[in-house]
Amino acid sequence: MRLKDKVCAITGAGSGIGEAAARRFAAEGAHVLVLEIDAQRGRRVSEAIGDAATFIPTDVADPDAVAETFGRIEREFGRLDGLYNNASVFLGDEDAGVGELDLDVYHRIVSCNQHSVVYCCRFALPLLQRRGGTIVNTASSAALIGIPGSDAYTASKGATLALTRSLAVAYGPKGVRANCVAPAAISTPMIRESNLNDPSFDEQAFLAKTPVRRWGLPEDVANVALFLTSDESSYVNGAIVVADGGVTITPMF
Ligand SMILES: NC(=O)c1ccc[n+]([C@@H]2O[C@H](COP(=O)([O-])OP(=O)(O)OC[C@H]3O[C@@H](n4cnc5c(N)ncnc54)[C@H](O)[C@@H]3O)[C@@H](O)[C@H]2O)c1
Repeated sequence: MRLKDKVCAITGAGSGIGEAAARRFAAEGAHVLVLEIDAQRGRRVSEAIGDAATFIPTDVADPDAVAETFGRIEREFGRLDGLYNNASVFLGDEDAGVGELDLDVYHRIVSCNQHSVVYCCRFALPLLQRRGGTIVNTASSAALIGIPGSDAYTASKGATLALTRSLAVAYGPKGVRANCVAPAAISTPMIRESNLNDPSFDEQAFLAKTPVRRWGLPEDVANVALFLTSDESSYVNGAIVVADGGVTITPMF
């Protein structure tokens, strides 16, 4: 029970990695707050977990909604021990290189992926500082290597990674650790959008060059977030943990 009696909020917990983390955190003793924009998904995950979860419908790209959610957390739970900023969109059909990028699309992606991290941290920090807490942010291989054609997503993930470091320096002395997980090639609905739906993507060739020779599982990333949220990582602050089976350090082509 590595998160016994802790209250942890996970954004985008209705699917993929967030769902795996919600189940894993609850199994380790946490009460999990499922912050999800899609009510059907959020309710499904919360009900599957049972008493150890509460679904709080939240659009993390909307600062007023985020303020309301953390106000509710304070009123109903009076504490917050972990914040896992996991929600994002990829929008593979709409994102593009900066030369072609529709600026409305750019703003939508950056609002959901990057501004949301600022909003959630801002409203969670007063609660997290009360007893000492943790923030886990989510970057991507796109923050580490050059991947053309999705520049809004890339910019949002690079900013999230950089923000993690400044959070770690600023709030470490106040008892809050901030770390970042950088996944790639994890088998979730998002990987369909980012790779598998692309007719030019050769899955067999990709897996043949991936050092561990398989797609990652949502649980592979959830376990990293669990470690970074638990007291086992009490001296880990400002770290970027890459969870990608070695994809980003391999010359692919
Ligand atoms: N799957 C991968 O290979 C991969 C690679 C790199 C990074 N990531 C990152 O990991 C995280 C999880 O990705 P995933 O693959 O599980 O994605 P996913 O699409 O399966 O799940 C994302 C969840 O976030 C929710 N969401 C979207 N916008 C929201 C909003 N405004 N407010 C609240 N919830 C919102 C969605 O409804 C969905 O349930 C994301 O930050 C993603 O960028 C994933």
